[in-house]
Amino acid sequence: MRLLERLRTLRALASSGERELPAVARSVAIIMDGNGRWARRKHLPVAAGHRAGTRALRRTVEAAIDLGVESLCVYAFSTENWSRPPDEVEDLMEIFVETIERELPDLARQGVRVRFIGRRDRATGALRAKMDELEAGTADNKRLQLWIAFDYGGRAEIVEATRRLFEEGADPRDIDENAIAARLYAPEMPEPDVLIRTSGELRVSNFLLWQLAYTELIFVETLWPDFAERDLRQALAEYAGRRRRYGGR
Ligand code: IPE
Ligand code: IPE
Ligand code: MG
Repeated sequence: MRLLERLRTLRALASSGERELPAVARSVAIIMDGNGRWARRKHLPVAAGHRAGTRALRRTVEAAIDLGVESLCVYAFSTENWSRPPDEVEDLMEIFVETIERELPDLARQGVRVRFIGRRDRATGALRAKMDELEAGTADNKRLQLWIAFDYGGRAEIVEATRRLFEEGADPRDIDENAIAARLYAPEMPEPDVLIRTSGELRVSNFLLWQLAYTELIFVETLWPDFAERDLRQALAEYAGRRRRYGGR
């Protein structure tokens, strides 16, 4: 609780202009990494790590609501993850379907609006149907915007946006940053204030390449299935102490 009070104070100070600190993070992105290592350490099959990962996401969504986060974007499956062993990919698709079924009622009740970013055409029919159901079933919610990056790649997203501009016959002189940003998967998604990657890996792995231009990066050792409210609080407190410069003085 002390940390939460500190965050509130920091937010108040930041908005009153007394300190050069960013306001509390309203938009958070997470690379949920480390499920495989978590399972291996426990001598469990990798699917058990992915299942535990879905429970960590549940906790994180609740913590994000409590901490006043407005937008949370999580990396669930990358365009490169299709290259994993077929058994693991198949298990993951099943886990996604089961998780949506299990979580939809609670998410809807808690005021979470869920949307997916990424490709839809390579998901199984069953998964696509569940994704549509989750988006439709939470469409009126406003408390927390949850964006799930599935079959998502930052490069693919920029390529698709560019293709759309060509298809529209855009005049090259009209192509600027706004023109590209407006054609990303979810133009209304706010750019993340902070990106958290778990499991100690120090890279971006093709996540939100366009949107991360000035995002603060935080890397933590915790493996994703162990990620808890305390980890999110800590990351947000670290963010609150940083100074964003945007190239200025
Ligand atoms: C992240 O955990 C989940 C997905 C990429 C789907 P990993 O499965 O990458 O876990 P590690 O990196 O092997 O530990
Ligand atoms: C990034 O993690 C993708 C997701 C968390 C969904 P990976 O485990 O696939 O990334 P690399 O292979 O370590 O770069
Ligand atoms: Mg990994």
